[in-house]
Amino acid sequence: MGSTKTYWASVDPMTVPRIVTETVPGPKSRELNERGMNYMVGYSSQVRLCPVVFEKGYGVTLTDVDGNTYIDFSSGIYVTTLGHCHPKISEAVAEQARTLMNCHDFNTPIKVELLEKLAEIQPWDLTGMQLYDSGTTAVEAGLRVCRVATGRNEFISCYMDFHGKTGHAVSLGKMNPSYGAGRSQGFYVVPRPYPYRPMFTRPDGTIDTDGYLDFYEQFIEYGTSGDVAAFVLEPVQGWAGSVFPPDDFFPKLRGFCDERGILLMADEVLTGMGRTGKFFCMEHYNTAPDVAIIGKGFGNGFPVTGMLVSEKYKESIDAISASTSYGGNPMACAAALASLEVIEEEGLLEKAIYLGEYFQKRMEAMKDAYPIVGDVRVKGCLCGIELVKDRETKEPFDEAGRAVYTRAFEKGLAWVPAGHILRMSPPIVMDVEIAAKGMDIIEETIAEVENEFGY
Ligand SMILES: Cc1ncc(COP(=O)(O)O)c(C=O)c1O
Repeated sequence: MGSTKTYWASVDPMTVPRIVTETVPGPKSRELNERGMNYMVGYSSQVRLCPVVFEKGYGVTLTDVDGNTYIDFSSGIYVTTLGHCHPKISEAVAEQARTLMNCHDFNTPIKVELLEKLAEIQPWDLTGMQLYDSGTTAVEAGLRVCRVATGRNEFISCYMDFHGKTGHAVSLGKMNPSYGAGRSQGFYVVPRPYPYRPMFTRPDGTIDTDGYLDFYEQFIEYGTSGDVAAFVLEPVQGWAGSVFPPDDFFPKLRGFCDERGILLMADEVLTGMGRTGKFFCMEHYNTAPDVAIIGKGFGNGFPVTGMLVSEKYKESIDAISASTSYGGNPMACAAALASLEVIEEEGLLEKAIYLGEYFQKRMEAMKDAYPIVGDVRVKGCLCGIELVKDRETKEPFDEAGRAVYTRAFEKGLAWVPAGHILRMSPPIVMDVEIAAKGMDIIEETIAEVENEFGY
């Protein structure tokens, strides 16, 4: 790649992070939070653990109402992949807001341009499209397309996958009592390969992908009615803690599905649009899905998501009553188109890979230095550090995970909590000097916490 700097988002490493209050959250954050929490209930653990009140963001930093500036290692929640308030994206949205905000699902010039751009960047034959305003709605639409395309009703997803919080999307993930008495009928979950914690291994102890596929075969025979429309998977599990499958998993699963007339639906909401250094994470695995769902980084903060369906099945979209009130509105299309253009114009896929190589080196060194670091995982700017109490037993170290998360946040690193797995999703526009500062905070905090726990 050419320059590794992204000038519009560059910031002097000597000036960030900058914590000016005695405590984090500071007094203004606390006061505003109390007012907000009088009404708003149900905040995420990200907010509960460190309830600061952000006021502005630019590029790779966020600033709270007390004037504290944080390095952003979260991109919100894997959303602002191209940094906060990219001038081109903000201007594109503002221009559409002045021109036309909504006209149901009529085509608009900006929508047509976006659809053509999407067709150009997807490397397979995913030429049937619909646009939505949340990841979960697009997932629901994808399920309906799979049903129509196959004439079948059942779905298989994987332990610890996350696909959204609406009706059927919840049945693809980990259940919660509020989702009802159980999974919706016809929804099943199976284990997927987790190389650090394998369920099926070869005699030499390495993960055995074929063991999983043999299990799926038996599961379809004995656990379903044989009416499976699709396997639905995240290419890399985000919520579960940046869990990457072995390289042979998706190619083998593709073959497995083809032999049985089962579709493969890739939920790229978190992994897509540059996060891992490709437009689609499935490109890393040389595997074409039949349906792909995109969101989060697609509009870089503006709510726009999409469903892409293989040419072979695209007519099925017509049968699902696919349109919605806001899907594909002109502002959303402007945000998404500008985001895709920015990725290309600024060479950001290459930059994500370059940053990933840097993160990998730093995190491998942490693994060598700190016994509580059990595993480190990186693809582009999607990273995870798994903390364990003991490297032999691999017992999750939740207390350490929470302590590292909150303490690093207080030092000025805005990031994503997940129990014993530290998750990082910095914007791919970050300069390596700032990435280094973020990594320094993480390393220093792991060292402190490890020491305090007596290691
Ligand atoms: C893989 C995946 N699918 C779907 C969703 C749901 O997206 P949304 O929150 O936009 O409904 C998420 C959100 O975190 C996700 O990570």
